[in-house]
Amino acid sequence: ERVSAEPAPLAGRHIVISAGGTREPLDPVRFLGNRSSGKQGIALARAAAAAGARTHLVAANVDSGLLAGLPEAISVTEVESTLDLQSVMQTAQPDADAIIMSAAVADYRPADRTDSKMKKSGDEGMTLRLIQNPDVLVGLVGARRRGQHIIGFAAETGDSDHSALDYAKAKFRRKGVDLLVFNDVSEDRAFGHDDTAVQILSADGDRVIAGEEFRGSKDDVSEKVIAALADRLEC
Ligand code: CTP
Ligand code: CA
Repeated sequence: ERVSAEPAPLAGRHIVISAGGTREPLDPVRFLGNRSSGKQGIALARAAAAAGARTHLVAANVDSGLLAGLPEAISVTEVESTLDLQSVMQTAQPDADAIIMSAAVADYRPADRTDSKMKKSGDEGMTLRLIQNPDVLVGLVGARRRGQHIIGFAAETGDSDHSALDYAKAKFRRKGVDLLVFNDVSEDRAFGHDDTAVQILSADGDRVIAGEEFRGSKDDVSEKVIAALADRLEC
């Protein structure tokens, strides 16, 4: 009897995935950071590996417990700041069939970082000067080689002028990505919950197409994203 095994959809592919949240140092003991856990990025890496891909997880400040026990097909590079993340992503880019930027990247970093611990002085408060970080994703899109697929993530809220989806569509264009995983966080349905609702945005010529809303766990969402990527890599 013949057993036909479906070939793994990402067999022979190399996928680079950023996860977690960047931290911007103020001094040797302090940083500006965000609450991203890295769970989404890890779920993506697991889904990519399960689909047969050799996977490189670039983990920004992800808890070591979450990084323990990952499958052998996943290699991990740990980074801290946005500039660290950018340099690792740039180095990894040439080998990648696809890049997924799921990390929460700090938009700004302190203009000055002191080598010794900042002392408090006076009681009139203090002002921190911040400068904008580079857009890692836009840089990767600019350096993309033919056939390489780049996927961004965006959590958006709507306001009285525009819906969250409108903002996501504008971001899709601005970033120049192949796919944008859009998460509507207008209602309190994203942070801290295990279930998320996402739409995968893609382009058809000049039009931005929003896929059906998909609800599920971070694992379910990851499988969906990896399946969408595998479809595109097949073409
Ligand atoms: N991103 C990045 N580098 C940055 C900021 C964001 O690579 N400096 C990536 C994120 O990893 C994500 C996508 O860009 O995949 C969208 O991030 P988001 O914060 O929504 O985009 P911003 O351009 O920073 O826009 P906003 O003003 O809405 O924060
Ligand atoms: Ca941002």
